[in-house]
Amino acid sequence: MDGVTVIDHPLVQHKLSIMRDKNTSTGAFRLLLREISLLLCYEVTRDLELTTKSIETPMGPMDAPTLKGKKLCFASILRAGNGLLEGMLDLVPSARVAHVGLYRDHKTLEAIEYYYKAPTDLQDRLVIAVDPMLATSNSATAAIEKLIESGAKDVRFLCLLAAPEGIRNFRERLPNVPIYTAAIDDHLNEVGYIVPGLGDAGDRMYGTK
Ligand code: URA
Repeated sequence: MDGVTVIDHPLVQHKLSIMRDKNTSTGAFRLLLREISLLLCYEVTRDLELTTKSIETPMGPMDAPTLKGKKLCFASILRAGNGLLEGMLDLVPSARVAHVGLYRDHKTLEAIEYYYKAPTDLQDRLVIAVDPMLATSNSATAAIEKLIESGAKDVRFLCLLAAPEGIRNFRERLPNVPIYTAAIDDHLNEVGYIVPGLGDAGDRMYGTK
């Protein structure tokens, strides 16, 4: 699919299958999400630009590769986005963090914003918005539109699972924002859950059901 990268690394697929299993405990689910987010972060940052910096190794001088430009910004779409955020920060501890709080109106499935806090210089950073589930895409697109309104120019979206309906809607609303996902599932059910999916990511992660 255009603009969508499926991260089909065997370790990602293996961990995802354990997460999907309804018998996987809350603790194991959270740990797997943290592990998988390291691998996803590795792929979503694969093409970052490098520059060089003069350093001295114990053996002599060297022009050593380092990341170019300002530190990344990870934008967590609350609350489930925090599950991906933690592992990504393990990999890129210097990243800045934005939080966008949205909940889904269970009747309309529309995203309602209740919290927003982000670095003030989003225009200078690559912003990677994260939410494990791209279902209708209403939350992800609303969050990213807010980040763009606040100045973000270079944005990517990272999730664990995506529904084809969500991808289509996302592509229509945000044609220039690339999507990275570990899998594209079959469909959305009548209440907006991904099938086969893994259930409610927030509930699975925090044991709230
Ligand atoms: N959000 C979830 O947590 N799971 C889904 O299947 C859809 C949206």
